[in-house]
Amino acid sequence: MSTFRPDFLWGAATAPHQVEGNNVNSDWWANEQVTPGMQRSGDANDSYHRYGEDMRLLADAGLNAYRFGIEWARVEPTPGAFSRAELAHYRRMIDTAMGLGLTPVVTLHHFSNPRWFAEEGGWMGPDAIRRFRSYAEFVSQILEDVPWVCTINEPNMAAAIIQMMKLMEARHLEEWESPTTEMRSVPDFPDPDPAVADILIEAHRAARDAVKQRTDAAVGWSVASEALTAAPGHEEELRAVLAAREDLFLVSARDDDFIGVQSYTSQLVDATGVVPHPPSPDNTMVGTAYRPDAIGIAVRHTWEVTQGTPIVITENGIATTDDARRIAYTGEALSHLEAAIADGIDVRGYLHWSALDNFEWGRWEPTFGLIAVDRETFVRTPKPSLAWLGDLARSNGSALPTLTSSRV
Ligand code: FCB
Repeated sequence: MSTFRPDFLWGAATAPHQVEGNNVNSDWWANEQVTPGMQRSGDANDSYHRYGEDMRLLADAGLNAYRFGIEWARVEPTPGAFSRAELAHYRRMIDTAMGLGLTPVVTLHHFSNPRWFAEEGGWMGPDAIRRFRSYAEFVSQILEDVPWVCTINEPNMAAAIIQMMKLMEARHLEEWESPTTEMRSVPDFPDPDPAVADILIEAHRAARDAVKQRTDAAVGWSVASEALTAAPGHEEELRAVLAAREDLFLVSARDDDFIGVQSYTSQLVDATGVVPHPPSPDNTMVGTAYRPDAIGIAVRHTWEVTQGTPIVITENGIATTDDARRIAYTGEALSHLEAAIADGIDVRGYLHWSALDNFEWGRWEPTFGLIAVDRETFVRTPKPSLAWLGDLARSNGSALPTLTSSRV
């Protein structure tokens, strides 16, 4: 019998700005035009038009879920002026997913903001919470039968990005450093500003209440888990780092329907703070350590701090050009997940990052996808890892190798 629930979600994830293309009313688009060294999203993968093809590839492979986002900058291109046509577009996406047998997991905010929202001060602006709530209210009209809604992606990362922007200005960086890739592997990646964290928590609750008023969706948010562990004797430092970077976001999810866990790698904490990834030929394309065991650490920590909020893995994956390595990483990661489930942790699904090679926030090089995309012709080419994950999904995980105790 499978350790995974019979209704386990097996899927892949994307974010609108990273795949849709021409997200011209967003702050990210605006920044891409002016930031030295930052690559541009441009047409991205043209998934705005080709989402049906993307979803069909996932469904045909055997997956049963797809996490995608609604782009606020499209739905509310100017303050208070909501677009019914864009809303209908996202409803078509939901219908397409459901028609293909893919359970939609819908994200309302994945790093990018409408440009006007950023100009008002972003999350620090005077009206931020009211603005986000009214956007959530508007989109909840199309979410009535969507079972899973994630309000804000990686609020801890979003808050850290705000800190990083300030840092960048102070350091007058000549070259763009992508927050989710290069910055993640540098030692001085900033802690989230607690004032921004409080606003994000309030915004999450406001959006959650708005969605729950109109739908039966399970609503939660997804937190970046760094799967930090203590160097011998440094448990105190570990606790302090986790408190600032993750735990306040996890505690606020105690009364949510689920918590999204997003995990890629693991790092040590010692007296100096988070220890940089040791250089190794095994490191991924984004300089992070190859640590498929990270997901187990992440899930166990999340379960403990939330005191038992059901978990969905909303992101896990690896930036590599070697697809065999992607399969090896994901297989091992899933074995660690299975071990956590066997220990009694309630995990409802696994959504691989990412469905497609995509725009990694200012960088095109890191390839996380189960599907390659030719950026000139937009031709999609599934990698062997897609068929592999789809087969595993069809067997509800029973084809996973058993984890030997030394790897737990
Ligand atoms: C996460 C982001 C996602 C992607 C991965 C690699 O922090 O949520 O959009 O960039 O990292």
